[in-house]
Amino acid sequence: MKSEDYSQGDAFQAEKRTIFSSEWLPLCAEAQIAGPGDFLSATVGGWGVLAVRDRAKTLRVLRNACRHQNMPVTTTPSGQCESFRCRFHGWTYGLDGKLLSAPPPVAPADPASPDVNLVSLSIAQAGGLVFFSLGTPSIVPPLEAALPAYGGTIATEIACNWKVCAEHLLGTDVTWHWPLLAVRRDGPATIVEQIVPHTFLKTRLFTHVSGGEVDAHREEAATIKQVCERLQGDRAAGTMMSGANSLVTEFHRRLAEVYAGNS
Ligand code: FES
Repeated sequence: MKSEDYSQGDAFQAEKRTIFSSEWLPLCAEAQIAGPGDFLSATVGGWGVLAVRDRAKTLRVLRNACRHQNMPVTTTPSGQCESFRCRFHGWTYGLDGKLLSAPPPVAPADPASPDVNLVSLSIAQAGGLVFFSLGTPSIVPPLEAALPAYGGTIATEIACNWKVCAEHLLGTDVTWHWPLLAVRRDGPATIVEQIVPHTFLKTRLFTHVSGGEVDAHREEAATIKQVCERLQGDRAAGTMMSGANSLVTEFHRRLAEVYAGNS
């Protein structure tokens, strides 16, 4: 790995075209969108997506890209709604992604065409999490089927490249699920650390707590943020990680494979 892979956008674009367009990627905990009309939007690996539960509680993951001019349909991170109205020219979509209406001056020629609906993505659920994929991967991360009761999620915004966050988590006592999940135990609690690569220097960390109080883990999440931002400064200054353990070595091996295939 080179320090530029952590501090410049080229590696992120390559990762977007490879890892993030083909793997199952975690998006959120099922419990974060438990009720009818609940939604959560995020940019994962550069792809804008939104998870939404319709009135019948069916869960979908849709591309957050309006079919009129490809702008984000929502910029709200999470909430509850009846429909999604694009703020640019007013195309309005149902919770299933179907176009409901569009103002006459900008209406599509054929409003019944499937090409005017939001693109629906492959979805999988495992270990209480919602996954999506832009490709057709076969193996869903083998997460534990039955977790203790969901306690909540801490969202932490970190000014670092996603790989810095991954390497830091891999240096602790975790089970790693390529490319974005680390699971650990803390007494009776199970903590799932979900990395959300937003841009090449912005990462959101979802800390999902099951079997324990979410507030008991806020300090740890704040510490992860501090450490990762310091490590990002090191990478930007050209100082790379030393003393990698077997998980980090495997993480680098898989990245090297991806980069080689992309060159
Ligand atoms: S870009 Fe969404 S309505 Fe025009």
